[in-house]
Amino acid sequence: MDSFDGRVAVVTGGGSGIGRALVEAMARQGAKVVVADIDERAANEVAAGVTAGGGRAVGVATDVSDLKQVEALAERAYAAFGAVHVLCNNAGVSVWGGLEAMTHRDWQWVLGVNLWGVIHGLEAFLPRMIAGREPGHIVNTASMAGLIATQGLGVYNTSKYAVVGLSETLAKDLRPYNIGVTVLCPMGVATRIRQSARNRPEHLKNDREPVSEPVQLIGRTLVPDAVAGMVLAAIRANRLYVITHEEGLEPLRRRFERLERAVSDARS
Ligand SMILES: NC(=O)c1ccc[n+]([C@@H]2O[C@H](COP(=O)([O-])OP(=O)(O)OC[C@H]3O[C@@H](n4cnc5c(N)ncnc54)[C@H](O)[C@@H]3O)[C@@H](O)[C@H]2O)c1
Repeated sequence: MDSFDGRVAVVTGGGSGIGRALVEAMARQGAKVVVADIDERAANEVAAGVTAGGGRAVGVATDVSDLKQVEALAERAYAAFGAVHVLCNNAGVSVWGGLEAMTHRDWQWVLGVNLWGVIHGLEAFLPRMIAGREPGHIVNTASMAGLIATQGLGVYNTSKYAVVGLSETLAKDLRPYNIGVTVLCPMGVATRIRQSARNRPEHLKNDREPVSEPVQLIGRTLVPDAVAGMVLAAIRANRLYVITHEEGLEPLRRRFERLERAVSDARS
């Protein structure tokens, strides 16, 4: 896709942080945007901001972990704007703590949003995007935690590794349809991810409060607008990976070296 002007974009988790920055960046480039978020007020506020600036946007309350709600989101998007060209499966949440301490509800909540949310996005939108026969793009927000396993982030790492694998395959599968795929892998970004629990559904809350604190991540903390700029450039250039932090290169290299060593170790 070489232009956003007049195109239609859907952004999940569009009410805050990276999602919000994606909404605003694409709207500035002339896209009509559907802002989906479990936090209805945040979604509507972001959409209203776009409209106030002369753009076109609608907010839609959506819990991406629920297929029916994502299907309803697709209905709303097509009813409002007649097409969808860019789908950003971006909504995400995190829990912190050792895997030995994670509860079943922790797994259900984080995988429900971070992995099933992406799958539901594909299920609800992809058939119509393909049938529309127009150039399109899917952006899945993973994380550097989808490429490097940070201790204390095991549930989150699991969800994000899955999103990376899904995206790498999707890029191959969608090549014949002129639909590009980008997987976004940031390290620290100044958002409200550390307050993810604010939107944790009642039935998936733990009986006891967690004892662990968010882990300290290495590297710089970028502003969401900078990340959105990188994503828009990647959509234009049809690049699969957006790796926002060069600080990630060294840990990535070390991981690859460990894999390389494992190949020779297995033969020694
Ligand atoms: N901030 C970082 O440092 C960082 C780093 C790597 C990856 N990410 C990823 O970026 C994405 C965006 O997160 P962010 O950092 O902007 O955090 P954020 O908390 O500021 O924004 C996340 C948004 O997702 C929404 N959301 C939560 N559960 C939802 C659900 N079930 N359905 C729909 N919306 C839901 C929240 O209401 C919120 O508006 C996530 O996938 C996150 O894992 C963030």
